[in-house]
Amino acid sequence: MNKAKTGPDLGYSAAVIEHFQNPRNVGRIENPDGLGRIINPVCGDVTELYLKVRDGVVEAATFQSLGCAVTIASASVFTEKIKGRKISELLAGKDEDVVGRLVGLIEGELGELPQQKLHCPPATVQAFLEAIEKQSEKEGQTELAARVRALLPKVQGYYQRGAEKEPD
Ligand code: FES
Repeated sequence: MNKAKTGPDLGYSAAVIEHFQNPRNVGRIENPDGLGRIINPVCGDVTELYLKVRDGVVEAATFQSLGCAVTIASASVFTEKIKGRKISELLAGKDEDVVGRLVGLIEGELGELPQQKLHCPPATVQAFLEAIEKQSEKEGQTELAARVRALLPKVQGYYQRGAEKEPD
């Protein structure tokens, strides 16, 4: 839709630039139901994702990030996409499919990313899953906590995408 690019051409889509420049849902939630804090294993950038959950539905989702443009855009898109969604629906399906679908929520919106930035979106997904894990443990939802623990290792493979190919 918006093809305009701003600044140097780093291979980012207009959507990446737009979400980076106008990120949605930035900030903390006081007394969140869940909080995930991730240090990206590839680059060390930090992302925090805060959740308010009511009756199994994501009521509010916010983030803070000391990360790159793609990480900020990823968290901006993802927090928008999960608001109002049932956690059970977000996590439904086979483990590999669920993680791919969650990463796809971000990448479907941001478009094709430079190879060397493919490790950025999974950090938001991991932060989300860890936030759900904390929330479910706190509320004694042992099945949900176990479900998330099974999903978390599947995120690791997504950090490795593009690792073989160095940036130009
Ligand atoms: Fe570190 Fe994008 S998350 S470079």
